[in-house]
Amino acid sequence: MRTDTGQVFRLEDYRPSDYLIPELDLTFRLDPERTIVTARLSIARREGVAADLPLVLDGDGLTLGQLLIDGRPAEDGAYEATPDRLTIVKPPKAQHFELTIVTRLAPANNKALMGLYVSNGVFCTQCEAEGFRRITYFLDRPDVLAVYRVRIEARKKEAPLLLSNGNPVEHGDLDDGWHYAVWHDPFPKPSYLFALVAGDLGVVRDRFVTASGRDVALAIYVEHGKEALAAYAMDALKRSMRWDEERFGREYDLDVFNIVAVSDFNMGAMENKGLNVFNDKYVLADPETATDVDFANIEAIIAHEYFHNWTGNRITCRDWFQLCLKEGLTVYRDHEFSADQRSRAVKRIAEVRTLRAHQFPEDQGPLAHPVRPRRYREINNFYTATVYEKGSEVVRMIRTILGAEAFRAGMDLYFERHDGQAVTIEDFLACFEAVSGRDLSQFSLWYHQAGTPNVTATTRYDPSAREYTVELEQSVPPTPSEARKRLMHIPLAFGLVGPDGQDMAYESVEGAAVEDSVIHLRKRRQVIRFKGVEVRPILSLNRGFSAPITLSQETSASDRLFLARHDSDLFSRWQALDTLLTKALIDASARIRGSKEPEFEAALLDCAAEIAADERLEPAYRALALTLPAEADIAREIGSNIDPDAIGAARASLRKAIAIRAHENFAALHRNLEDKGPFSPDAESAGRRALRNVLLDYLAAGSGEPALALHQFENSTNMTERMAALTVLAHQFPTSEATQKALAAFEERYRDNALVLDKWFIVQATIPGPDTVDLVRRLMEHEAFSLMNPNRVRSLIGSFASANQTGFNRVDGEGYRFLAETVLRVEAHNPQVAARLAVAFRSWRSLEKGRQEHARAALAHMAQQPELSRDLRDIVERTLA
Ligand code: PHE
Ligand code: ZN
Repeated sequence: MRTDTGQVFRLEDYRPSDYLIPELDLTFRLDPERTIVTARLSIARREGVAADLPLVLDGDGLTLGQLLIDGRPAEDGAYEATPDRLTIVKPPKAQHFELTIVTRLAPANNKALMGLYVSNGVFCTQCEAEGFRRITYFLDRPDVLAVYRVRIEARKKEAPLLLSNGNPVEHGDLDDGWHYAVWHDPFPKPSYLFALVAGDLGVVRDRFVTASGRDVALAIYVEHGKEALAAYAMDALKRSMRWDEERFGREYDLDVFNIVAVSDFNMGAMENKGLNVFNDKYVLADPETATDVDFANIEAIIAHEYFHNWTGNRITCRDWFQLCLKEGLTVYRDHEFSADQRSRAVKRIAEVRTLRAHQFPEDQGPLAHPVRPRRYREINNFYTATVYEKGSEVVRMIRTILGAEAFRAGMDLYFERHDGQAVTIEDFLACFEAVSGRDLSQFSLWYHQAGTPNVTATTRYDPSAREYTVELEQSVPPTPSEARKRLMHIPLAFGLVGPDGQDMAYESVEGAAVEDSVIHLRKRRQVIRFKGVEVRPILSLNRGFSAPITLSQETSASDRLFLARHDSDLFSRWQALDTLLTKALIDASARIRGSKEPEFEAALLDCAAEIAADERLEPAYRALALTLPAEADIAREIGSNIDPDAIGAARASLRKAIAIRAHENFAALHRNLEDKGPFSPDAESAGRRALRNVLLDYLAAGSGEPALALHQFENSTNMTERMAALTVLAHQFPTSEATQKALAAFEERYRDNALVLDKWFIVQATIPGPDTVDLVRRLMEHEAFSLMNPNRVRSLIGSFASANQTGFNRVDGEGYRFLAETVLRVEAHNPQVAARLAVAFRSWRSLEKGRQEHARAALAHMAQQPELSRDLRDIVERTLA
């Protein structure tokens, strides 16, 4: 384990490397216990660098076997090798020279899953961000680009399949049952994009012809027998390739594109050039084992990794501070792809829910950081919702400000200007400034300043002057190490909604930059006067969530109900209802804390029921409208002195109130929506199932009986409905016989399918209430559970800690103690996954006093360990600070 040295990396310290490595020749002789890696590096001293400057290569836990300099064994004193550094003390005088480095690895013992490891008998690598230095000594930084030639040797029986980046060059047999393959990647790339896979896998093949006629051989490799489960992923891949040509003019550039699914993986997937490696959870799917959400995730992640080929690989990051350059932009691209493939409004609502659930708490807590951070101790901890999701929102705002055409022109310029380079956010923004003539310097604060801006809006209508006044004010709350904030450029899409629900016209506007239907808020306070407005409108602001802010707008409940029913912008309709529901839940939880009965406005209950039944709206949208704000969302809105039990109770009582009031409609709808005909994962059918499943949750709550859910569980013909029914049973009736029966049947049916059993772990780990921590402890003993596998850990431990508010925040602190103890156990072999689990503590200061003390004690317990990894120490110390 790499323990913490307290070293901090700072953006302002960036300087180019003294040496470059234009070419790299790698040979792997693969063995689980004793792999031999021979790396031949062509080294070029950069122009102007003194010839006697030592060359320092990165390593991580390496042992040097052999070192040749220009083909001759290096003499003692010519170099120094430690596990994490190889220093060529006196490099050759010539500007170009060659190093040959031999290292030995034991991939079977690599449980951190960084570098070269074995998953299920398959050799595979993970190099982003700094895993390549666990394979050989190298300048392991993204601005050092090399052309790779890779030779893989392995036992033919153990590994008939030998893959690396680029195009295949040759293959053949060797002595003693060994064989080899050689791959060549013509595109210079940083070491984090290197990959190798060797093993015995099944394959699904297809072809894709690019716009300019290049014939690309596509392959997805999975465990033998699971080939049929890769069909959907293959379809998503082909759609992604076509879409990137049509929407961004980007073609694929190699003869082959390979995807491999592995079962031990720290993250979702990885965009290695020409050889994407995936967590198998994001490849394998069929109606029997995958839910509609799984299908949608697969589509999005296949697209995401594919899109990286241009945004990330052809153009990469200068340094890891620029991570959002590739991630924020690529998330934006995959969001657009999904929006085009599915329903744009529904997709947008889902994105905003995710942003609020994951990025807002990050931005509002101790781990807040700018989309482009200025400092880090461990880069692994910066693969965050801020870098990814807020990073995507920032790109989206560029498009809102520039308009579709100029945005596309800016992207074209970016691809043209920087192809083959490792660049920065400044380079990216400069392209949009160049094509539009706009000054984006104030806008660029979105990259540099942490924290969620708040906008307050007040409105006035003067009927005699026919004038409507909107007063806006912005503020950005302080975040760690950024006490004072500068004023931001916030693009707010809006409409003035008239009595018929249509947007009203006005004659002129005065006081601020209003372009088309966007207000550009750039000062602290701005007053906007709309002239010639016939009747009092209702302001629909931040339509489509044009800016990732919190909005405080004084609007009467009746105006909000009107927007929820009539706003022409579907996102804003959803938002209006969601705001009303959130307010009702906050009130209800306060009453429950004061030992009073919660009360809800009939008009609100009716509005929700009415939207559920509105056939003019697509089912997926109605399902989202009926999904009550999550407990964590309500907690975040309350902000401080949180009692998760009161919030949980409030949410349950609102669900019940709606269910009772709408009972008959809901029951009829639930019946009518029953799936007829064969399963299809398309968005339309998925939407119908989503609505039906939300209704089931209400119907069960209204009746207080598990019968209907048990019936759906037993009769469903697909995983989406089965899982939804099981969730209703387990979460609403945890101790009932029906639930025990269903859980046992599910376990029995899928006992050999680890990915499906993960769902069984999740549904139990998220049962609300104080007893779940004990249940999770028991489930850790289950034969299908393993602390070594990240998917298992995330399903059972991760979902308990991050998606079970009343369970994790048990009043006696047992949830916190359990998590701290488990995090330390995981850390012993996988610091990266451990650190991610520990992030569940990030909102501890907003809890009521008693829980705060318990959480602090659990964090302190971790902090006091004498040997902590860099990953975990970084998270724990920032969380406690
Ligand atoms: N770069 C990957 C992605 O977002 C994520 C990743 C990071 C995977 C680090 C593995 C390790 O597409
Ligand atoms: Zn990515």
